[in-house]
Amino acid sequence: MTDINVALIGHQFMGKAHSNAYRQVSRFFPGKYQLRMKVLCGKASVEELEATARQFGWEESDCEWERVIARKDIDVVDISTPGYLHHPMVLAAVAAGKHIICEKPLANTLAEAKEMLRAVEKAGVKHYVNYNYRRVPAVAYAKRLIEEGRLGEIYHYHGAYLQDWIIDPQFPLVWRLQKKYAGSGALGDIAAHAADLGQYLNAEITEVVGQMTTFIKERPLPGTGAGAWGAKGRQGKGKVTVDDDTNFLARFKNGSAGVFESSRFCGGRRNFNTWQIYGSKGSLAWDFERMNELELFDRTEPSPQQGYKTILATDADHPYFGAWWPPGHIIGYEHTFVHAIWDFLSCLEEDRMPEPSFKDGVRVQAVLDAVERSAKSRRWERVRI
Ligand SMILES: NC(=O)c1ccc[n+]([C@@H]2O[C@H](COP(=O)([O-])OP(=O)(O)OC[C@H]3O[C@@H](n4cnc5c(N)ncnc54)[C@H](O)[C@@H]3O)[C@@H](O)[C@H]2O)c1
Repeated sequence: MTDINVALIGHQFMGKAHSNAYRQVSRFFPGKYQLRMKVLCGKASVEELEATARQFGWEESDCEWERVIARKDIDVVDISTPGYLHHPMVLAAVAAGKHIICEKPLANTLAEAKEMLRAVEKAGVKHYVNYNYRRVPAVAYAKRLIEEGRLGEIYHYHGAYLQDWIIDPQFPLVWRLQKKYAGSGALGDIAAHAADLGQYLNAEITEVVGQMTTFIKERPLPGTGAGAWGAKGRQGKGKVTVDDDTNFLARFKNGSAGVFESSRFCGGRRNFNTWQIYGSKGSLAWDFERMNELELFDRTEPSPQQGYKTILATDADHPYFGAWWPPGHIIGYEHTFVHAIWDFLSCLEEDRMPEPSFKDGVRVQAVLDAVERSAKSRRWERVRI
């Protein structure tokens, strides 16, 4: 067994999800490498970070990301911070010769994303961007069916990622609502996942026409009566500088037509990440809130028997599932991260590039860039890499 030492930057939402994946991966997916959770980094007090590191199972903690990345004993740097930090952190990790796992979207702009891709390719390190919904067994199985030609020629792809967590105007101005930190709003946060799934399951997006809307233009600063969301005692409001809602039509390289929706204002849609794909021989549909289920419509069946059937993607021969539980013993959100880390480790073992790589990250970023250009120009815009 060879040790692989990991440093994780980010100790909150994704920090927790990634830490859990590092802890679990070799218990369910043993391989050549023994993963060591070496150091957790985050912007917090020394005491808070140390307590979180202990809770999540890290050997050490350190609040200075530059020092963490420069450590000689680190093999893999995992960047799970707000978007504006991905670019400087990736460039520093490349300079230190580390393999890199980076959260999505790859960067805040297409120019940054392309520079990051050039840097990792020049350095010859492994690079992975965490579009983790590819690693839901039902989604990976759908990919297999599509590649086998079960849907025939593809006509339509519909992707929607809808949430409702900022529908309350009193919800504070967190970093996700500020362009300088997040790059964009619903677009980069959730339409990015939908665009990645669309390009993974169907084909590259070549052209888009979109619209972006900000419904609530000002919000309370974090800490102004909103409790858990920031430092106490601050007053006043700040400007929302990102989109609350972004929708676009798309044309795919294979000639099919696409419709994409993303919003964080859809009441009752807590994490409604869903897609449908329609072809000449069949259709597939999936919804993350029922993530173990895949809906299949087979047009080649005799017409009186036709209708959607639900496949529970929990058999040993569904992707990833054999490593978990007997059929029907369902899995959840956190498992997608375990699968991602397992695939990443397998790529290190077999000297392959993980997928989605930064190349795929740039492809998504180029779609986001074209949607933003189109929302401004009010015309169709080509996706330019
Ligand atoms: N793949 C997914 O499904 C998914 C889900 C949520 C978020 N994300 C992505 O993950 C990234 C992080 O999002 P999150 O939800 O975990 O955010 P978060 O606000 O929960 O956590 C951000 C983390 O960044 C750290 N951080 C901020 N500035 C820092 C600095 N200067 N030095 C060191 N650490 C610093 C904070 O300490 C915190 O731990 C974003 O790119 C986001 O788009 C991906």
